[in-house]
Amino acid sequence: MLDKYPDYRIVCLDKLTYAGNLSTLAPVMDHPKFRFVKADICDREAVNQLFEEEQPDIIVNFAAESHVDRSIENPGIFLETNIMGTAVLMDACRKYGITRYHQVSTDEVYGDLPLDRPDLFFTEETPIHTSSPYSSSKASADLLVLAYYRTYGLPVTISRCSNNYGPYHFPEKLIPLMIANALADKPLPVYGEGLNVRDWLYVEDHCRAIDLIIHKGRVGEVYNVGGHNEMRNIDIVKMICKELGKPESLITYVADRKGHDMRYAIDPTKIYNELGWLPETKFEDGIKKTIRWYLEHRDWWEKIINGEYQEYSPTSF
Ligand code: DAU
Repeated sequence: MLDKYPDYRIVCLDKLTYAGNLSTLAPVMDHPKFRFVKADICDREAVNQLFEEEQPDIIVNFAAESHVDRSIENPGIFLETNIMGTAVLMDACRKYGITRYHQVSTDEVYGDLPLDRPDLFFTEETPIHTSSPYSSSKASADLLVLAYYRTYGLPVTISRCSNNYGPYHFPEKLIPLMIANALADKPLPVYGEGLNVRDWLYVEDHCRAIDLIIHKGRVGEVYNVGGHNEMRNIDIVKMICKELGKPESLITYVADRKGHDMRYAIDPTKIYNELGWLPETKFEDGIKKTIRWYLEHRDWWEKIINGEYQEYSPTSF
């Protein structure tokens, strides 16, 4: 964004919880048009102060507790950050005035699709039908966003995206976790039988979609963002083993996630028709690029793995 819009000033507000890492921002930290602020979106005072100082035009809410397994262990923080944090941000938008509030949401608000119906996809009209505390918190936030549009006329948009992958992905998620474990010759924990399907999208394709929506999307609208790139978990893990020259014997089947969604698949017709967006990165290329990034940035993720993350997950080995 800094390269594409040299006139923009970009402010990043982040609480830096376990998944936040300032080294991720190292490439832009000294940019004259960039400012980082450590704060919590639930902290009304801090948010209002920032709005007063910066008078932002566009707010993009990427902030969320995002990990399904963690939400099963501890739903409360998901309700606070994902729902209340969204309300605090939108209240500030109402108070100080903005031209656009964009909510980064998820395809998980639609629940899941059966494996034996490959003809079914999530459209923007698919009913909300959540499975986990995480997806319920995101769906609740979406409803609030639409309510602020209807009740207060706040100029909002929502994007519901499928699974992202790429550089800087926190190694609690499937792809970076498998890369990190495989490189350390540790077991690769596959939930259940590994047959669950996700619709993978390279992170830069997602960001391109958000850029289009905030500048050209219609206010009050929801846009599904997906890759038409459905893959079974087990096939991804095998692909990572092959790329890294590691044996498939590392694969270890572990207890299934509670309430585990079977299949996500996005129909991106609306964003294609209205904004001309299509994913550009083929999965075969994206996964190679991603693996190369993890090989070249061991420093970034090894620090994370040696720290708090290791204490958290019973399946992180
Ligand atoms: O669909 C978008 C969503 O994708 C986002 O809204 C979420 O914030 C994001 O976390 C992601 O949710 P998933 O639950 O699909 O992602 P995760 O990487 O946790 O898991 C992907 C699949 O891999 C899922 O079927 C569970 C499985 N899995 C995951 C982990 C971490 C395993 O089999 N073993 C594992 O160790």
